[in-house]
Amino acid sequence: MLTEKDIQRFRKETPGTEKVIHFNNAGSSLPPQAVRHAVINYLEEEMTYGGYETNEKYAAQISETYTSIAKLINASAEEIALVENATAAWHAAFQAIDWKEGDVIIATQADYATNYLSYLHLQRKVAVEIKVIPNLASGELDLKALENMMDASVKLVSITHMPTNGGLTVDAEGVGVITRKHGVLYLLDACQSAGQYPLDVEKIGCDMLSATGRKYMRGPRGTGFLYVRKSVLPKLTPYVIDLHAAEWTGENTYIIRQDARKFESWEGDRANILGLKAATDYILEIGIDNIWKRLQHLSSILRKQMANLPMVTVQDIGAVKSGIVSFTVEGKSAEEVQAYLHRQGINVSWNGVSNTYLDMTARNLKEVVRAAVHYYNTEEEIEVFIATLKEMKA
Ligand SMILES: Cc1ncc(COP(=O)(O)O)c(C=O)c1O
Repeated sequence: MLTEKDIQRFRKETPGTEKVIHFNNAGSSLPPQAVRHAVINYLEEEMTYGGYETNEKYAAQISETYTSIAKLINASAEEIALVENATAAWHAAFQAIDWKEGDVIIATQADYATNYLSYLHLQRKVAVEIKVIPNLASGELDLKALENMMDASVKLVSITHMPTNGGLTVDAEGVGVITRKHGVLYLLDACQSAGQYPLDVEKIGCDMLSATGRKYMRGPRGTGFLYVRKSVLPKLTPYVIDLHAAEWTGENTYIIRQDARKFESWEGDRANILGLKAATDYILEIGIDNIWKRLQHLSSILRKQMANLPMVTVQDIGAVKSGIVSFTVEGKSAEEVQAYLHRQGINVSWNGVSNTYLDMTARNLKEVVRAAVHYYNTEEEIEVFIATLKEMKA
């Protein structure tokens, strides 16, 4: 369990906490000093000694990034690819599937826009069918319905673990029991849960998992990673290959590498990769279980206190709630609320219908504000946030 002393240390190591109340961790969190040091140090080395030469000097540390990420999600280093964001990671997996007419994609109501748009985009080229798992009244996935949806035509079950808004934590492990039983590919969008929730790919049973660096991982922007299960790697053919992903062995021949790095390209942002490594090691040092407990504690306080504000409605669903608290304020647009809070030194963000179209329309919502806490936030900050919201003029 994290103590008050631990929290004070994390805040000291996060200079941004002295400047703002940062509740925009679902957008991009405040990185710790260690991330800044790793990135700047590497850039200075590149500037002084050259990009290729610095790469060689730091080869071991760069390679350890895969090991650190693998440790965080209980995978092995060869199952990890480092890419520039969650979208690139998700697409590397999605586009590598051998799509055929009649294939079924099973998705969720709260799927992230990019994912759903990509099913629709694929449908323009290949006649795949998209089916959505119904929700229970609580907002959880109806896993019995999922079980009944499984048949030979299902090619992929694609789940957003913690939707971009709505507070939900999907029972990813429960989905995994079903996909394993039916031998169907399972892609988990862990963009909002990496760094927040104890992701364990063995417990979850997913075959592919995509994540970003800048959100709950506290890494630099422009970083992300993909996990692909070792037994699934041979079944996925990268949509794009280059001389890092494959070797040109003869005039008309080439061999694609066997590990997950076949989904990477040769050029990449080494400084940011080391920043992501620093962020991952920071999580490993704190303990992801401690982070998850603290996030549930803080976000439940926040939800309770917001429920007492007459003009505020918390718009979260599900039994297990994430650190992302979504809400609306009567008579105010989400943009107005964000701008007002920003003027008072509080960072939040907001989403419109098109971010999670199915979920927003099903719940009759046009937009929501997101107050997303991280473990370095405090109960005092929550008090200030509540008092500031109360003072917002009608
Ligand atoms: C659930 C979810 N998936 C994927 C993404 C895309 O992540 P990125 O911007 O790193 O590509 C986001 C971004 O907000 C998200 O909330």
